[in-house]
Amino acid sequence: MSSTPKRQFALQGAAVILVLSIAWPYYGWQASALPWLETSLAIGGVALFFATLSRQPWWWRVIHAGFMPLVWFTHTQAIDPNWFLFGAILLLLVFRGALSGQVPLYLSNRQTVGALAELLAERGPSRFLDLGAGLGSTTVPLADALPDSRFTGVENAPLTWLVGRFFSLGRPNIRWRWDDLWQTPLNDYDVVYAFLSPAPMPRLWDKVRAEMPAGSLFISNTFPVPGVAPDRIIDVDCVPPRPLYCYQL
Ligand SMILES: C[S@@+](CC[C@H](N)C(=O)[O-])C[C@H]1O[C@@H](n2cnc3c(N)ncnc32)[C@H](O)[C@@H]1O
Repeated sequence: MSSTPKRQFALQGAAVILVLSIAWPYYGWQASALPWLETSLAIGGVALFFATLSRQPWWWRVIHAGFMPLVWFTHTQAIDPNWFLFGAILLLLVFRGALSGQVPLYLSNRQTVGALAELLAERGPSRFLDLGAGLGSTTVPLADALPDSRFTGVENAPLTWLVGRFFSLGRPNIRWRWDDLWQTPLNDYDVVYAFLSPAPMPRLWDKVRAEMPAGSLFISNTFPVPGVAPDRIIDVDCVPPRPLYCYQL
């Protein structure tokens, strides 16, 4: 069974409905209040059972088991609700991509940037696009290392974009754009780099093939295009492994 977010809502929701539909009439019949600690533990147990039965990854099982007991615990702390609103807004400003396209923020490491710099140096001055450019952890060091190349970063999470904008200040070979990667034309670039997630790769490959010019290069960090053999795989020396899958157009 797949482990999409909707599936997880369904599993947790089923556990809530099952436990409450037994507990409410039971305690109602006895005219006593529902014991929320025990109820939340029971929901966690049932959700864990459902998640195990449907063979969800281990970390989803942990989340299912802990979610309702944590809700109960948080409730007992009587925290001002505005903090939750603040936290939700902050998460949205940084992790918008995770919500809309299953692409959260995590950063390319130094070794990857080094491998990209070597690859670009081999090709000569290039126009490089980072699709989902995060904080600029790829674009900024590459722009410093290769002043003759031009770098564009496209990012759609507001706070992430703002931090990246700050880091790219004073670097004339960086164009830092707040935009949706799906609305970004790819025809103007020699090298397009993406470090996203498995979810968008099939759709992104259709876009790459439709828009990137002949002779250009598409590089995906960690996530290969399913069913398409890369022309080259660069094994970056890091843990966990972060291979660069290179597709020559
Ligand atoms: C895994 S991070 C990679 C960041 C950077 N490229 C790097 O290598 O360090 C992916 C980034 O893509 C952004 N993203 C996700 N969906 C996007 C979209 N539709 N348009 C633009 N950016 C997006 C996320 O906000 C996140 O910052």
